[in-house]
Amino acid sequence: MQIGKRIGVLTAGGDCPGLNAVIRGIVKSAETHSYDVIGFLKGYEGLVDPVKYIPLNSRNTSGILTQGGTILGSTNKGRFAAAIGVNDRLDIDPELVSGVKTTFDHLGLSGLICIGGDGSLAVAQQLHEQGLPVVGVPKTIDNDLSSTAFTFGFFSAVFCATDALDRLHTTAASHERVMVLEVMGRRAGWIALYSGIAGGGDVILIPEIPWTFDAVCQAVITRERKGKKFTLVVVAEGSHLPDIGMVTQEKAESQKQVRLGGIGNYVAKEIERRLGKETRAVVLGHLQRGGNPTTFDRVLATQFGAHAVRLVVEQQFGHMVTFEPPNMNSIPIIDAIQLSMVTPHCSAVQAARALGICFGDDDKEPPFKFSGPGAVDV
Ligand code: F6P
Repeated sequence: MQIGKRIGVLTAGGDCPGLNAVIRGIVKSAETHSYDVIGFLKGYEGLVDPVKYIPLNSRNTSGILTQGGTILGSTNKGRFAAAIGVNDRLDIDPELVSGVKTTFDHLGLSGLICIGGDGSLAVAQQLHEQGLPVVGVPKTIDNDLSSTAFTFGFFSAVFCATDALDRLHTTAASHERVMVLEVMGRRAGWIALYSGIAGGGDVILIPEIPWTFDAVCQAVITRERKGKKFTLVVVAEGSHLPDIGMVTQEKAESQKQVRLGGIGNYVAKEIERRLGKETRAVVLGHLQRGGNPTTFDRVLATQFGAHAVRLVVEQQFGHMVTFEPPNMNSIPIIDAIQLSMVTPHCSAVQAARALGICFGDDDKEPPFKFSGPGAVDV
């Protein structure tokens, strides 16, 4: 094997639809640049002790464009934890880093493409600081990475949540119930916001907008008065219960990302208790992370893969690819691993409010101000 013409790739953190499309994009474009590609198994774990990888080529990646998951496997919480929470750094064990350096030397890697979310990209950043030639590709269904307009996997998750809302709509209407759908979104409510709009949700509860049960119940009552006997509530798993905070599946420990989940049930019970109206909760969970990527995610992931190879070829190491519509771009990973949250005044929230969607707050948002010819003050 010719040294210096080989790219490594790994997928780290929670999986999401589109990972395989990125891998395929990398392999195909690497071949046109005469690089060969190897894929490390189970995220960063495959880099060292023991080193585990498979050669990747257009034959063994053929047909994976449409497949969910990752053919390389992934590890969410392994030996390479480099971040805990937002902006809190953990230093990777120096022995692991030196093992990774040895792997790079032995395999003659000219670059390693790390596909991951903020935690996994924090690892890539540390490897870069240690002089290793890494490039990042942003991945998360939560869409909570700044510097890229969208991450792949997000719209596939939104599609799944929207489909769930469509289904809940008919059963909610038949039984005149309140249906609460809990979707993913640890720190950012993008999935709840987009699926809530796309699926005709009536109430959207996200971490970025503090809300109260009074306002949520008032929204249900207002709908009843208008003759709408059912209500669809979408709640992000990371939303904060008034006076209580996030609902977790386990006790929070330092140095560990706590598992979220359960807020949907809590919200449903409280609505039923307060209004005496039949209410049911559905937790969508990992269905949002599984399955085939949407067309948009296939296109985005493919472009990410091709652009990541370009960064390796041009030796722009320590950079992460970004999507700045309509183009691909890149920025230093250190600047990229910042959290992107829904801003309460963003156009999607404003549009939702204009449609009468309740965010569980006091809803004192000023109405839309249209500008341009023919604009009328409202
Ligand atoms: O970060 C993406 C995400 O889907 C979060 O919304 C969710 O809290 C987390 O992953 C769950 O991860 P896992 O079940 O793999 O620990």
